[in-house]
Amino acid sequence: MKKIGILTGGGDCPGLNPVIRAVVRKGYNEGYEIIGIKNGWKGLIENDVVKLDLISVSGILPRGGTILGTSRTNPYKKEGGLEKVKENYKKLGLDALIAVGGEDTLGVSVKLIKDGITNIVGVPKTIDNDLSGTDYTFGFDTAVNTAMECIDKLHTTAESHHRIIVVEVMGRHAGWIAVESGIAGGADVILVPEIPIDIDEVCSLLKKRYERGKTFSIVVVAEGAQFKEGTLVIQEQKLDEFGHVRLGGIGERLAVEIEKRCGYETRVSVLGHIQRGGTPSAFDRILGTRFGVKAVELVKNKKFGKMVALTGNKIVDVPIESAVTVAKTVDMDFYEIAKVFFG
Ligand code: F6P
Repeated sequence: MKKIGILTGGGDCPGLNPVIRAVVRKGYNEGYEIIGIKNGWKGLIENDVVKLDLISVSGILPRGGTILGTSRTNPYKKEGGLEKVKENYKKLGLDALIAVGGEDTLGVSVKLIKDGITNIVGVPKTIDNDLSGTDYTFGFDTAVNTAMECIDKLHTTAESHHRIIVVEVMGRHAGWIAVESGIAGGADVILVPEIPIDIDEVCSLLKKRYERGKTFSIVVVAEGAQFKEGTLVIQEQKLDEFGHVRLGGIGERLAVEIEKRCGYETRVSVLGHIQRGGTPSAFDRILGTRFGVKAVELVKNKKFGKMVALTGNKIVDVPIESAVTVAKTVDMDFYEIAKVFFG
């Protein structure tokens, strides 16, 4: 029986379990044995695996997170990591590996292919939706819905107290979650990493609202946004194994500036990991399922070095490299639509 390994790496998101379930179900239909590798690349370094059968994936479709666990382990940053990965891949008798992840996990896949583990298929995930090569990643829709619901709740309290509420959302260096949740939640200003923050402009938009009798406002800011004359606001300087700092804190800085310059009482709400949790939306369950089924088809057809992707409403395959070379940032036509509702 041929064996497929599957791992989930990087930040978790809703939709990972639907992918795992789909890989197992489709894999069994096609006569494969499926080996779950625990905690991303860490599991392949440590040979920490579990056999996945139909019973192990029963009931996981609506569950958030990943039953396999995840980590931000980079085998290229661990001493002897690459050798261990190669050794265990061989020891497990894997014929192919399905790597489910974002920029980092897929970036490692590209390197491993060059280093001799050629039979890899990628599946793009991230709440940030910042991967090129696919119109959407799963996890993003659920995160946007969660942020939208939070904005809805913050609206009522902002209105009662005649306050400004700054809502800080995730997204790393892309403003997708901010723009989409902001449009869906009716934000009055949306600030994204793609455009430096002009605080004078923000204040004049908020004042314009006050002048027309709107004594409250919602300002959505992406964690990666920065002031024109400033730098990234970070929580922790220490880099992770993929060279990322921990973002967070721009909301607080912005609130201070707004209150100081406009004189309106301002509060901050940082949504944080709530955006990564919970049950996947129907869109993410379906996208994850379609991706998982397609990934097994790619293995069956020996289309290695490819990643499943969504183009329009079709599931296609693209080279894994296409997802990791350039980040997909917010489309400015889209941002122009959001701007119609500012102020
Ligand atoms: O990439 C997903 C993401 O949630 C980003 O939006 C965020 O900056 C980062 O991961 C947070 O990472 P961690 O869970 O390691 O704090």
